[in-house]
Amino acid sequence: MFTQKLDFKTTDLETFPFPFTTGNYRYSNDLRKLQNINCVEITPEYELQVRTKRRLLEEQPEVRYQSYPHTHEMQWEVLEMLVDMAVSRYPQHFEVIKDGQNWTFKNNILGEVDSFIFGDSSTLELEPFDYIGRHFHNDFVLMVHRDDNFYLEVGQVSYAALFSAHWNKGMSFNEIHGPVPFVSRKGDQLADRIRRFLLSVEPGEPWTRINWNLMANRWDVNYETMDVWGPERDLITPENAGELVRLRVEEQKFYRMPRSNAILFVLNTQFLPLEDLKLRQEWFDLTYSVLQDIPKEMAEYKGIAPYLPQSVEYLRREKEKLKAVENKA
Ligand code: HEM
Repeated sequence: MFTQKLDFKTTDLETFPFPFTTGNYRYSNDLRKLQNINCVEITPEYELQVRTKRRLLEEQPEVRYQSYPHTHEMQWEVLEMLVDMAVSRYPQHFEVIKDGQNWTFKNNILGEVDSFIFGDSSTLELEPFDYIGRHFHNDFVLMVHRDDNFYLEVGQVSYAALFSAHWNKGMSFNEIHGPVPFVSRKGDQLADRIRRFLLSVEPGEPWTRINWNLMANRWDVNYETMDVWGPERDLITPENAGELVRLRVEEQKFYRMPRSNAILFVLNTQFLPLEDLKLRQEWFDLTYSVLQDIPKEMAEYKGIAPYLPQSVEYLRREKEKLKAVENKA
């Protein structure tokens, strides 16, 4: 069973990773070098997001967390990286005491203190990746490098758009991207080119990109619960789209792990209801322009085809209203 309450949206617009720079969006290799390589970020919604993430993980444990037994050493490497990042960026919120292999990790925001032996998974109640992931609002996926490809071997995913640890476990980069109509503006096929690019990512030099979608009255959608959210998309009308449809943006970060050589994929997912786009006229205009111009295959792939016309109509009406006010003035 799982429940979803739409009680979260981004309130600090300064930190919202608005995805569009031009008025028409097509797939491309849009990876950029990451400037601030520390992926731990405490937003005003931190506590709400982390508590919701934990609840979703409790409600659908099999769907939202998966790993292979041979990944524990790699998981400890990820735990170490995230603990060190958290403590160095937010010493007031996170502390670690390392006495040899005896570690104590404190999360002062949630008032939690845990002691464990680094490298010994039997000293934690959860697997190391699952344990540390529950201290941050991000989703985390570990892609293991083998035979010139990357395979999803550990995943903690609670904010998915057509994605789950359960569904995608074991898949290669190319298999995962098989359903994406991955054609660039020039008509190039992109999946293999991006896989080759990822092979060149070096430790200490992470990359980033932004992915976006729309979400109809939900936090996330995955294939396992399509019977629930599929029909709900038909409830969207131009009258309610402003409140119920959210621009869902994923800030994605890709880290080459120095010891395991795997790629850690970190996602920061943020939401903005369409009506809040009016707070930034430029965002409103760009989004309206992009959504009018989405190719059919992309809309179907993203799962937004059933309510895209209603969303565009909402934006059109709002634009009309704005024009009328401007004309009066
Ligand atoms: C290596 C880690 C990565 C993982 C685990 C990953 C995972 C995924 C997953 C699960 C999906 C949804 C696929 C489905 O429909 O079943 C997806 C979609 C997509 N991925 Fe990746 N991806 C990775 C890297 C990248 C990179 C580096 C790029 C581009 C430079 C990229 C571009 C895309 C795009 C454009 C989509 C379609 C999304 C949409 O239109 O909403 N991915 N990815």
